[in-house]
Amino acid sequence: MDMQSTAASQAGTPAGFQGTLTDKLKEQFDAGLLSGQELRPDFTIAQPVHRYTESDHAVWRKLYERQASMLRGRVCDEFLQGLSTLGMGKDRVPDFEQLNETLMHATGWQVVAVPGLVPDHVFFEHLANRRFPASWWMRKPEQLDYLQEPDCFHDVFGHVPLLINPVFADYMEAYGKGGLKAASLNALDMLARLYWYTVEFGLIRTDAGLRIYGAGILSSQGESLYSLDSASPNRIGFDVRRIMRTRYRIDTFQKTYFVIDSFEQLFDATRPDFAPLYESLRALPTLGAGDVAEGDLVLNAGTREGWSDSDDV
Ligand code: PHE
Ligand code: CO
Repeated sequence: MDMQSTAASQAGTPAGFQGTLTDKLKEQFDAGLLSGQELRPDFTIAQPVHRYTESDHAVWRKLYERQASMLRGRVCDEFLQGLSTLGMGKDRVPDFEQLNETLMHATGWQVVAVPGLVPDHVFFEHLANRRFPASWWMRKPEQLDYLQEPDCFHDVFGHVPLLINPVFADYMEAYGKGGLKAASLNALDMLARLYWYTVEFGLIRTDAGLRIYGAGILSSQGESLYSLDSASPNRIGFDVRRIMRTRYRIDTFQKTYFVIDSFEQLFDATRPDFAPLYESLRALPTLGAGDVAEGDLVLNAGTREGWSDSDDV
């Protein structure tokens, strides 16, 4: 054993994971939060429910109450349906095992606890097998409005309710399989944009008007209002090829939201083999996060008010 791995294991970091650990993970090991916790080779742990403090539960409650009341009339029915079927309560951080009893029965999906972001291939492998990796830890009370990494509220409140919907459940599995394939084709940048503009920041058109289904929007109070009500961002009809070329923002609200007509549309449009698509799109330039392009089905051309000039990813 060399000096470095000795030092790392003394601090609690398991030696087998050297080089693949995110800062969030290192921090948890070093703080002793995961000592005695087995980090499995697939990066999951048993959800350490005994580690939640009263403050964690209070943060959950506060965010849940705030979002649940605001989202009425803003989020799609399928989400509210999922929330109620799962019996996700407002009082405490949910116990994943309890969620899984309902979820497994409904669509065969499971929520598994992870210490934070996991490597791409690990993430795809979970999705491909109908497991959604969710951060177990809660954000701090001073981070109610913004944090950089996905915490338990974003992952569980934001992502899990829609996994009750059969079509969306199939889409997520297909995405995982598509991810493993895209990795081998060197096309992860394109596939990541699809996830971003659908699973995280997607809007859906319904008879009652535009609704949110993206987890990145619906776990954020500010963006839940902005994405639907503001005149600033573009709202453009869903188009797989277009999305795969579109860069995005990770530090501000989105400049463009893509709008699907139904989850069936989303699933059907992503059914074809993407290999030739990647090939042809690679030859084209990418589009900026706020660009409007020829052929776009523009539902709202953004006023661009308040847009920052800094770079898109
Ligand atoms: N059809 C895609 C492929 O061949 C897989 C995929 C499905 C990707 C759904 C994303 C979402 O790669
Ligand atoms: Co997310």
